[in-house]
Amino acid sequence: MTIWQPDLGDKSGPKYILIAEAIGEGIAQGTLKERDRMPVQRDLAYWLGLSLNTVSRAYAEAIRRGYLQGEVGRGTYVRRTGPIPVQQVQAGMARSSSGPIDFTLNLPAAGEGAAALAKSLETLQGSQSLAAYLDYQTEVEAPRHAEAAAAWLRNLGLDIENDGVILTNGAQHGLLVSLLATARPGDVLLTETMTYGPIKAMARHLGLKLRPLAMDDGGLSPAALDAACRESAAKVLYCLPTLQTPTTITMTEARRHEIAAIAKKHELLIIEDDVFGFLPPERPAPLACHAPDNTVFLTSTSKCLAPGLRVGFLYAPPRLRRPLRAAVNLSCWMPPPLMAEIASSWIIDGTADKLNQFQRSEAQARQEMARRILAGHDVRADPHGFHLWLSLPQHWWAESFRAAAERQGVKVLTGETFVINQAKAPNAIRLCLSHEPSRARVSRGLEIIAGLLDETGDAGGLVV
Ligand SMILES: Cc1ncc(COP(=O)(O)O)c(C=O)c1O
Repeated sequence: MTIWQPDLGDKSGPKYILIAEAIGEGIAQGTLKERDRMPVQRDLAYWLGLSLNTVSRAYAEAIRRGYLQGEVGRGTYVRRTGPIPVQQVQAGMARSSSGPIDFTLNLPAAGEGAAALAKSLETLQGSQSLAAYLDYQTEVEAPRHAEAAAAWLRNLGLDIENDGVILTNGAQHGLLVSLLATARPGDVLLTETMTYGPIKAMARHLGLKLRPLAMDDGGLSPAALDAACRESAAKVLYCLPTLQTPTTITMTEARRHEIAAIAKKHELLIIEDDVFGFLPPERPAPLACHAPDNTVFLTSTSKCLAPGLRVGFLYAPPRLRRPLRAAVNLSCWMPPPLMAEIASSWIIDGTADKLNQFQRSEAQARQEMARRILAGHDVRADPHGFHLWLSLPQHWWAESFRAAAERQGVKVLTGETFVINQAKAPNAIRLCLSHEPSRARVSRGLEIIAGLLDETGDAGGLVV
């Protein structure tokens, strides 16, 4: 048996650190394997011509770094070096290829993100500036991250400078930060009649009164917005102009122009949630272009790259940047610079565009599947969206339909999740097609939904 000996060559630095580093390298290169027994300290000291004390310190340092473990009376061993078992990493994660087919989560398809992450981690490993990612960055974004974020937002149609972008921990955090910075307890928050569900809990916690506004086939109704601004002291509107959830509506350029004009007239602030804005290959310009002084624009990398990155972007007029930054600091100090670096490197080297393209084509393929399987039913969908909105026939009550689908292994959300006023929940369900791991499971889930739609149902006269 050959005995492991480090080659310290002519490296400079304390010998005990060099030995500890050599142990780490040996593990990385495979010359030291899990459970290998390390040389007895006295022997290693003799071979290297060092003192026993230096080798003892080196082993202690290697133990501190997690390379070795010592067992009293049994010597020192290489610790487990293999990858962490995948089941341990996946426990508690949402995506599964067994169990119920889940159409409730509006998340992207699993693409090549893991391969891109592996590459980024490898690059980061060789970086000279790793320590910077472990420090506070509370004042402004690192210039590289601001530049990448601004480039991303320019792709979405915003004509902006690098220095106006604020990083958040995703769009949900961006939304919270926007409300913290612009609304006070007791204020009225205007929303579309049906909207992103968590806004309800957020408003409740912040003491805001929600006032839902009517929508038509073009999205938020300008007349309803104008009336609400005249009748109430509302100062903030939250809305989703592109691929609205749950309705899938994208406001036209003309509708955006009208909404922006009303906001300017009443000095209303718009919080524009654009998380799906990257999906349509051609899209109308954001509301923030029509009313730049009245809009906080927010989006994130969750839908286009990966939800676990937790990187979001806020862009706001100069007068709001200080309060928004203060709200970021208050709620989390700062988004982790390491995650911002990963997202930024993907934007800069073109990986983000590739991942984005994948989401677009996967979304289109799944929408096409839904169009075929649900043909003849009352579906509202956009060929580029992740989700669709299915109005149920008279003989089905949404809650009964949801329960029946769940009994057959398919999870969906009903209209109640999205309405502000529970009494007005439409008899409809939302189906999110992208996050399921395979097209085969999406197809099976849609067949089950189509089969149920054709069944008698059990509305029992509840739907009028
Ligand atoms: C409409 C909408 N806005 C915001 C978010 C939050 O996104 P993030 O994961 O970036 O926090 C979601 C997530 O589902 C969403 O659907």
